[in-house]
Amino acid sequence: MTRMKVRKAVFPAAGMGTRFLPATKAMPKEMLPLVDKPLIQYGVEEAVAAGCEEIIIITGRGKTTMEDHFDRSWELEAVLEKRNKLALLEIARSMSKLAKIVYTRQAEALGLGHAVLMAKELVGDEPFAVILADDVVDSKQGCMKQMVEAYNDTQSSILGSEVVEGPAISNYGCLDCTPDANDPRLLLVRDMVEKPKFEDAPSQNAIIGRYILTPRIFEMLETIKPGAGGELQLTDGIKALLQYEKVYGFSYEGKRHDAGDKLGFLKATVEFALQRDDLGPTFRAWLKAQNF
Ligand code: UTP
Repeated sequence: MTRMKVRKAVFPAAGMGTRFLPATKAMPKEMLPLVDKPLIQYGVEEAVAAGCEEIIIITGRGKTTMEDHFDRSWELEAVLEKRNKLALLEIARSMSKLAKIVYTRQAEALGLGHAVLMAKELVGDEPFAVILADDVVDSKQGCMKQMVEAYNDTQSSILGSEVVEGPAISNYGCLDCTPDANDPRLLLVRDMVEKPKFEDAPSQNAIIGRYILTPRIFEMLETIKPGAGGELQLTDGIKALLQYEKVYGFSYEGKRHDAGDKLGFLKATVEFALQRDDLGPTFRAWLKAQNF
């Protein structure tokens, strides 16, 4: 078997972000900033740190700010240069140098599985990462880097997974799985269910917004029928893949924030701000002094 590297990362970003209205009416939720950096940039940096060279962003209507964000801004650069704001100039320029970024559109939000299928030609016949940018993972070593290392050993599809307590499992895809004998972080997947009722959930292992998939997933997504909510579900595609290939869950090291949800976003903002050298100490002192 030829061992293949994960060189491409797909970012489905064509969803409607209804949980974050009204902010997401005219602005993509992927552009919501945690402190001062848009969610999608955290994701792209994580993919680059994992060794991905090409970023494929699936966009839709009203999403052009993402393209502008990763492009050069000549006017801004000229102003910063003139004012001798060199540190800011470097920040403004750095975004366009992160990686090769290409865009393709999903004309209608027909589901996450459909969004991933839009990347078929751009990905070609090789394994690839999928990152949902509103799941932000705070970890010493990037979550995707950890997963790429596991992929390099298994050469199988890998789904980022975490243990979820209680009825919250109903918000996630859920794994029916057994721990791998050799690597305690790996869970061999037997089956999976999208958003199960608490009492029907086969485990507490939820799938989060990080995946490494083999290219056969495209064949699966082309043959499955729309599932829950009339959408083409990525979970159903992966379930179909199980008939042909091994699929693993992966317990990553790190803390995930659901930044596509208002409360999750607030918590992530506070934690990220407190970690910053420039803002953390003053912000902490201010928080302590408040009588909330
Ligand atoms: P979500 O389930 O979070 O949906 O999609 P959403 O529409 O973005 O947000 P809410 O739930 O209405 O608030 C998971 C990921 O899949 C993408 C989204 O952009 C998000 O990154 N997605 C979803 C698409 O790209 N296309 C779709 O048709 C559906």
